[in-house]
Amino acid sequence: MRSIMVSLKNITKQFNGVYALRDVSMEFPAGKVIALIGENGAGKSTLMNILSGVYGDYEGDLVYKDQVMHFQGPRDAQDQGITIIHQELNLIPYLSVVENIFLGRELMTPWGALDTAQMKRVAKELLSRLKLDLHLDTPVSQLKVGECQLIEIAKALLVESNVVIMDEPTSAISESEVNALYDIIADLKASGKTVVYISHKMKELFALADEYVVLRDGQVVKQGLMGEVDEQQLVNMMVGRDLAARVRCPDRITETTVIRVDKLSLAHPDKEGMLLDNLSFDLVKGEILGVFGLMGAGRTELLETLFGLRGKPLSGSFSFDQHEISFFSSPNQALRYGLALVPEDRKGDGLVLGMNVRSNLSLSVLSSLENLGVLADVQEKELCQQYVERLRIKTASDQQFVGNLSGGNQQKVVLAKYLATNPKVLMLDEPTRGIDVYAKQEIYDLIREQAGLGLGVIVVSSELPELFAITDRILVMCDGRITKQFKTDEATEETILQAALPDK
Ligand SMILES: Nc1ncnc2c1ncn2[C@@H]1O[C@H](COP(=O)(O)OP(=O)(O)OP(=O)(O)O)[C@@H](O)[C@H]1O
Ligand SMILES: [Mg+2]
Repeated sequence: MRSIMVSLKNITKQFNGVYALRDVSMEFPAGKVIALIGENGAGKSTLMNILSGVYGDYEGDLVYKDQVMHFQGPRDAQDQGITIIHQELNLIPYLSVVENIFLGRELMTPWGALDTAQMKRVAKELLSRLKLDLHLDTPVSQLKVGECQLIEIAKALLVESNVVIMDEPTSAISESEVNALYDIIADLKASGKTVVYISHKMKELFALADEYVVLRDGQVVKQGLMGEVDEQQLVNMMVGRDLAARVRCPDRITETTVIRVDKLSLAHPDKEGMLLDNLSFDLVKGEILGVFGLMGAGRTELLETLFGLRGKPLSGSFSFDQHEISFFSSPNQALRYGLALVPEDRKGDGLVLGMNVRSNLSLSVLSSLENLGVLADVQEKELCQQYVERLRIKTASDQQFVGNLSGGNQQKVVLAKYLATNPKVLMLDEPTRGIDVYAKQEIYDLIREQAGLGLGVIVVSSELPELFAITDRILVMCDGRITKQFKTDEATEETILQAALPDK
């Protein structure tokens, strides 16, 4: 028997006259994992925001346990048993790990004081279920994006729910670290709960889901059993067309060194030991260099150090584009020399959410546009048009607030913004986090095309298929050290993972 936990009937949702969902109907059975699939901007998050009480203004019916519901807000939905883990991180940076987990649900002693001891016990238990080894009093501002994502999950697990919605829960955690989450999902399933799982990672969907629903442009394409489709069929349903095959063009590599790092070491800011330990490598013009490592390996720290965000490193030498520089001391200096970094956390460092698409794009090229005087406006518009088309940024117009774009489309704006600065070397930290399969190809093409014109690229990614698809060489890091360097053609998933695992 397939017993239905939730059914959505003829749901329609508009934002200022633009349809995000049109007459959408689907069913979520109990004890199953349902994959909600679709391109960036297809309407996945909007639909789940309706189900979890975030949006109350919609047409159609939401039937939960055989009753038509209209939730008064997310808290109401949660009290009735529907919990969502949002795609965007919503933690309060200056509060600690335990304070964030219990925010709004603080435990009290019978005397009306905060029951800190009990909260810490529960939090510790939750974190250990997620195999997350963190100090409970650390402010979350000091944590990595991946760790924050796991805390969001812990927070959702705090309340007993019948329906758990996960909107790209693993976009920032490495492939090899999602196993704890898989176990939790298996538990939820076994106890008859419904899990709605949104992800662009096909491998995960096939490993986890029992059923799928595909959305395209705000409408349902199909609902069915996962066992009855393959990846290609799903992708075709998502995009409504065939993906063109891509070719590799390895002739970009030049002999001109653009970055040389020699024996770079960086001490840990607040405890014993090294964040980066004796790293040496080169990058030539036109080369795409991948950096792989598990969470905490030092990948982001490496990029940040090169970009001048970490103050002067402890030791080592650095040259950029034939200039001996004893490392950049600020991002401004790095950008002036032609080194750009596309950060991992788009909300924190990448975008101004309250500004429109066009202003965000031109922000980083403002000074060069200013010199053009009256022409600037036209130029700005053209520049924007070019990237919106190329990266298939789904936006009503270039005047739309970036905060109103879907998650994946925000990420595309960040990428476009940095590409537009015309750097000599572009460093990318998880560039396609949350980006759909089709748009990924576009981004890979764009990166390759720029490399063909002499751009050097360093890309950090937790997705091995991504590194195999675009890089020429791969550095593997573990515990702040480079453990191995491979030519991409000579590496395999196994040899890379082997090098990424710490010695036990
Ligand atoms: N608050 C808002 N105001 C205006 N438009 C919005 C708002 N939220 C979403 N939209 C629009 O609704 C459409 C669907 O967005 P949604 O976030 O649901 O997509 P998604 O399928 O979750 O995509 P992604 O994979 O990129 O996260 C998009 O065109 C988006 O721009
Ligand atoms: Mg979304």
